[in-house]
Amino acid sequence: MHRLDKSNLPRHLAVIMDGNGRWAKQQMLKRIVGHQKGVETVRLIVEECSKLEIGYLTLFAFSAENWLRPKTEVKALMALLKKFVRSELDRMMNNNIRFNVIGNRAELPADIDGEIGAAIEQTAGNTGMVLTLALSYGGRQEIAGAARKIAQEVAAGTISPDEIDETTFPRYLYTATMPEPDFLIRTSGEMRISNFLLWQLAYTELYFSEVNWPDFDKKELYKAFRHYQSRERRFGKTSDQLRAGMLPG
Ligand code: IPE
Ligand code: IPE
Ligand code: MG
Repeated sequence: MHRLDKSNLPRHLAVIMDGNGRWAKQQMLKRIVGHQKGVETVRLIVEECSKLEIGYLTLFAFSAENWLRPKTEVKALMALLKKFVRSELDRMMNNNIRFNVIGNRAELPADIDGEIGAAIEQTAGNTGMVLTLALSYGGRQEIAGAARKIAQEVAAGTISPDEIDETTFPRYLYTATMPEPDFLIRTSGEMRISNFLLWQLAYTELYFSEVNWPDFDKKELYKAFRHYQSRERRFGKTSDQLRAGMLPG
């Protein structure tokens, strides 16, 4: 087992936390128990990433499409979310973590949105890792929303259509103040993006783990990071060009 090169970790790690339901089913437990166990994994991974000085950790916790799940499951997930935000606040303060949410917050129950707003405000002055939860989040909805805002500004005459390009467009996304993810981990063996960060993942290195989220741990995280460190990020260039670019002078 190689050691981690601490100087070559993703600045922004995004995670699609998947497999809670299947984990529970395998143990003959209810799906919600899988989600409860999943919250423990969240705590562990947040702590590890913060220790490794990852700049941004973005977790897909509830998709815009997850509202279509059975009402009882949605309710239980919302209850867990509320409990999580409350119980994590002290820990986030102690670990200098800045809390953030992306997604359609207007769709969340008002009390949860209140807790979220309070946590964002309280942690706003922290200077360590930025922990972002994607809640009621959909990538297509985000892009369409950005297009809508731009159209409104054009209609109001505050911007000109000529100004819209690949550098100005992302300023209208939820992630305007964040770098793009360098690395994406999806657990549970599913190999799809499921409407997560569609614009932002354009050049992200993708990694799929067979492990269900409740079983994902420090060892699996380090394994994923070692894979990341073996990748060559070419951004359209050739390998030779990259090597030449690394030479001094
Ligand atoms: C991920 O686990 C958590 C959420 C989507 C909220 P799942 O609930 O999707 O678990 P599986 O995919 O059914 O195993
Ligand atoms: C994606 O997982 C959303 C989250 C992890 C929150 P899903 O389990 O909802 O994705 P699909 O439906 O299998 O694509
Ligand atoms: Mg799933």
